[in-house]
Amino acid sequence: MMSGRAGSALTESDDSQGAIVLCAAARNVPIGLRVPATILAIFRGVADTGSTHEGRVDGRSIAVFRAQDVTKTYTMGEVQVHALRGVSLELLEHQFVVLLGPSGSGKSTLLNILGALDTPTAGRVWFREHELTAASEYALTELRREHIGFVFQFYNLIPSLTALENVRLVTDIATDPMDGREALGLVGLGSRLDHFPSQLSGGEQQRVAIARAIAKRPDVLLCDEPTGALDVETGRVVLEALARIHAELGTATVVITHNAAISRMASRVVRLADGRVVADEINPDRVPASHVEW
Ligand SMILES: Nc1ncnc2c1ncn2[C@@H]1O[C@H](COP(=O)(O)OP(=O)(O)OP(=O)(O)O)[C@@H](O)[C@H]1O
Ligand SMILES: [Mg+2]
Repeated sequence: MMSGRAGSALTESDDSQGAIVLCAAARNVPIGLRVPATILAIFRGVADTGSTHEGRVDGRSIAVFRAQDVTKTYTMGEVQVHALRGVSLELLEHQFVVLLGPSGSGKSTLLNILGALDTPTAGRVWFREHELTAASEYALTELRREHIGFVFQFYNLIPSLTALENVRLVTDIATDPMDGREALGLVGLGSRLDHFPSQLSGGEQQRVAIARAIAKRPDVLLCDEPTGALDVETGRVVLEALARIHAELGTATVVITHNAAISRMASRVVRLADGRVVADEINPDRVPASHVEW
């Protein structure tokens, strides 16, 4: 149901141990690369963006995501945890949104629902004109593979692969990817292509993860605490990489953080508290990532 794309060069088949084996598409020949299914799920994402002004084409707002009265309740034995208590919001083309809120306020839950990694208990969610809450598992997998890039606090790189090979894991299965070298160049790692994760600093590993997320030209980049494990200086370099990608590719971006200072670089700041949106503001005074202090 998502917009169609030509078949990719690699397909996947399940092995008997709950992992996915990447296979050459035509003959279903395993190429020997075993990737846990959970990791493969977050590698997927792509597509082009169209408008020239943030969130607007011909003066009309374009929503990449729309959530309507979304709730999420976890039932743990006798106890119910209300992670989201009725969230409605739209994410527009080309916005750079910082999602702020205290621990447990529902930030990750909301991001995972928007990114089709999780489903709401009630409410509806759309990606462009496609209703995710009415979509099949297959369609949601395709959405993640073709349209969404994910970046998490911990980088989820494959230790036995170089930086370039980690990015190529994604570009090999994407339909219209950029070259892996170009993606690593965008995050300032053009000279570290052949380094393994253990030979890279935390900030450099996170930038490889960002390159991996954007190499497929996602419509939207969803980042859950991308600087959470980094010191100030290194975190700022990672933010600069995100800002550069946003400026050059125009990718709608959501960054979850505890750190209110990071909201100064956002075009829009959404605050969650106790599972609800308590503030949603445009930031008229954006500063470059290099000016963010904390
Ligand atoms: N799988 C789960 N099972 C049960 N409860 C969960 C689950 N995932 C999240 N929760 C609960 O839902 C609430 C919201 O969690 P969420 O991870 O979205 O918060 P968060 O704002 O991302 O917090 P943090 O800043 O600490 O990452 C919390 O109370 C959390 O304990
Ligand atoms: Mg979280």
